[in-house]
Amino acid sequence: MTIIVTGGAGFIGSNFIFYMMEAHPEYKIICLDKLTYAGNLSTLKSVMFKPNFRFVKLDICDREGVYHLFEEEKPDMVVNFAAESHVDRSIEDPSIFLQTNIIGTSVLMDACRKYGIVRYHQVSTDEVYGDLPLDRPDLLFTEETPIRTSSPYSSSKASADLLAMAYHRTYGLPVSISRCSNNYGPYQFPEKLIPLMIANCLSNKPLPVYGKGLNVRDWLYVEDHCKAIDLVIHKGNVGEVYNIGGHNEMQNIEIVKLICKDLDKPESLITYVTDRKGHDMRYAIDPTKIHNELGWLPETKFADGIEKTIKWYLDNRSWWGEIISGEYQKYYEKMYSNR
Ligand code: NAD
Ligand code: TYD
Repeated sequence: MTIIVTGGAGFIGSNFIFYMMEAHPEYKIICLDKLTYAGNLSTLKSVMFKPNFRFVKLDICDREGVYHLFEEEKPDMVVNFAAESHVDRSIEDPSIFLQTNIIGTSVLMDACRKYGIVRYHQVSTDEVYGDLPLDRPDLLFTEETPIRTSSPYSSSKASADLLAMAYHRTYGLPVSISRCSNNYGPYQFPEKLIPLMIANCLSNKPLPVYGKGLNVRDWLYVEDHCKAIDLVIHKGNVGEVYNIGGHNEMQNIEIVKLICKDLDKPESLITYVTDRKGHDMRYAIDPTKIHNELGWLPETKFADGIEKTIKWYLDNRSWWGEIISGEYQKYYEKMYSNR
């Protein structure tokens, strides 16, 4: 089995590659990644020279390059993680989100049609369902929940999902889609909530909480997401959507306070800043389908996962230290100064 993993130099893609190489050592894994600001080759150093691994620097929008790779490698499956993934950046400038997340997805699926494939898997997000009210804890996202996006990011991901379903129906492409809740764990880019708060705590910098910090996210340890995708691509039905989440809803402020406590930093570092435009209030996944059909259950409790994650950021300061010392400084200035 040869699998192309796109976006494998990013957070979830790299964790997926590590997971798959352990779980299926007989597979050949090809990482296709453009190495945007969010992709980091050093993340892949532990697998880079393994005989069943290949890294290809390529943009998923580069049709010629993608077709050439398919001709060369004749992949059996494609798992598409490649995306612009940060909501705040999509609010600043949607255009690259439309390019990568929509056009890039269509290029990959065109290649799958042209060269044949047993599975194209689209890694999607719970954000395509929009948000849920805080005062209705009984409401959860199921696979039947209508698409109702809020941000340019979620709209571009929803567009890709719709295209994937259209390729399945129109061309019979063997497509599956998974929609996961917020992930946390090693190698997450420091622009996202949890690593940003850990990095700022460690430098005794203000912790910028948007609005009142009451927004709720449903956190899942990244390895549990990887295991779920492994199940979906092997045992899930084509033409189907699978929601992935572990019933772990938490308010942002709870998470930030927990990180302060764990790192022994004062809560006085918390600074409430202007809210994100169009900020989704609450995400919450109903994972009944993947549990009943594929037997998936999350294995890492949040208390353990966050401990492991904080320890990883403490032990791997050079990985994120390098990232936040470069171009990221400008991003941080732009997004957070005078906010
Ligand atoms: P990330 O931003 O950490 O990584 C994205 C990777 O894609 C990077 O390595 C980047 O270089 C690469 N990439 C970007 N544009 C590309 C292009 N045009 N061609 C080739 N490679 C390109 O993202 P992540 O958090 O690991 O998310 C991965 C996927 O999972 C995304 O599709 C995202 O929508 C989805 N997702 C993320 C979460 C989450 O909590 N992070 C939750 C649910 C779904
Ligand atoms: P994020 O990690 O960007 O994920 P998403 O927006 O895709 O859920 O943000 C998680 C939550 O944390 C979201 O409600 C926005 C909030 N947040 C802050 O309060 N401060 C920050 O600096 C960041 C990056 C996020």
